[in-house]
Amino acid sequence: MNFSLTEEHLMIQKMAKEFAEKELLPGVIERDENQIIPTEFIKKMGELGLMGMMVDPKYNGAGLDTLSYVLAMTEVSKIDNSCSVAMSVNNSLVCFGLEKYGSEAQKEKYLKPLAKGEIIGAFALSEPEAGSDATSQRTTAIDKGDHYLLNGTKNWITNGQQASVYLVIAQTNHELKHKGINVLIVEKGMPGFEVGAKENKLGIRSSDTTTLNFTDVKVPKDNRIGEDGFGFKFAMNTLNGGRIGIASQALGIAMGAYERALAYSKERKAFGVPISQHQAIQFKLADMATEIEAAKLLIYRAAYLKDTNQDYVSAAAMAKSFASEVAMKTTIEAVQIHGGYGYVKEFHVERLMRDAKITQIYEGTTEIQKMVVARDLLSK
Ligand code: CAA
Repeated sequence: MNFSLTEEHLMIQKMAKEFAEKELLPGVIERDENQIIPTEFIKKMGELGLMGMMVDPKYNGAGLDTLSYVLAMTEVSKIDNSCSVAMSVNNSLVCFGLEKYGSEAQKEKYLKPLAKGEIIGAFALSEPEAGSDATSQRTTAIDKGDHYLLNGTKNWITNGQQASVYLVIAQTNHELKHKGINVLIVEKGMPGFEVGAKENKLGIRSSDTTTLNFTDVKVPKDNRIGEDGFGFKFAMNTLNGGRIGIASQALGIAMGAYERALAYSKERKAFGVPISQHQAIQFKLADMATEIEAAKLLIYRAAYLKDTNQDYVSAAAMAKSFASEVAMKTTIEAVQIHGGYGYVKEFHVERLMRDAKITQIYEGTTEIQKMVVARDLLSK
């Protein structure tokens, strides 16, 4: 078994790290505090090839493997999780879904600018009453011959304001339950489509999480992805890969907090010595580092299985549930090691602690990941 990264992986990791430290770090506290959407940085991420990392170069992507994406996501997430969530949704939900299941015409029209980062996309599955229980879609897409008539409300949509293209999941035939669900490509500006106000959140505060409202929106039939009734499977299949992205975000949050706590513990003195000399702090650092390594291995394994066309559903859910727990625990300990300084914004760890919480919620809560793993175990 080879645990080393290739030259190419190391280069991508270095590029993402330098970008995050040089460009994202300087204003991240202010953006978080004032909920400033990081549009200009997301544009720069597109220019660096970070918005369509795994897409084939013939559709303007970077043509890289999933591990490259994991490495870049981790580096960006050490610093700015409002940027990394936009990156994650665009890469693993929108671009992946279009490339894997879209028609050639849809790839030409939508995937090409999305993979280049010229425009960004959003993935609209959650509803006021359909979060974890994703089959209970209330948004309807009624078949009107050459188009669908879309009505309903979506909630908690990442990139809600910035996006130009939305992959919207909606029910066409209630009797068929989840087999009567479709996924439609909706463009910003289609009559009857309105984007709601940005949510004021605990963490990832700059990320534009919004509601979407659809009132008699006419969506051409050509904008349906896949066969009639494929929408739920589309959502589940794309979310499986999305979970590797969010697991990487959680890993980056944990690593960012740990690295700051380690450095601080060597500088800060108490009782005549740096606090890193106290066993109470050493135990914390050792636990943090051990759990981070374990999360990393689970994520790399899920990425490897995906890239080698093996079943990665359960591996991705394990990685996401474990890494997000590690992010939460590690950031709490990082604040504790910083003491009072950890509780103020300048030291960054309180922001990472707030950001960590969402990784246990979006793209399926921790409990949903455990359901996915258990179903897999019991089906064998
Ligand atoms: N991969 C592939 N297929 C799956 C699947 C998976 N992980 N999970 C379920 N399916 C398939 C099943 O095989 C079944 O297919 P068949 O009809 O062919 O047998 C079908 O989907 C229905 O499955 P279930 O009967 O098991 O459905 P369920 O309602 O009992 O449970 C669930 C499904 C796993 C709980 C699912 O609803 C789920 O994953 N919920 C969480 C939704 C979620 O992750 N939302 C995130 C929103 S997006 C987001 O957060 C993005 C962002 O902003 C960052």
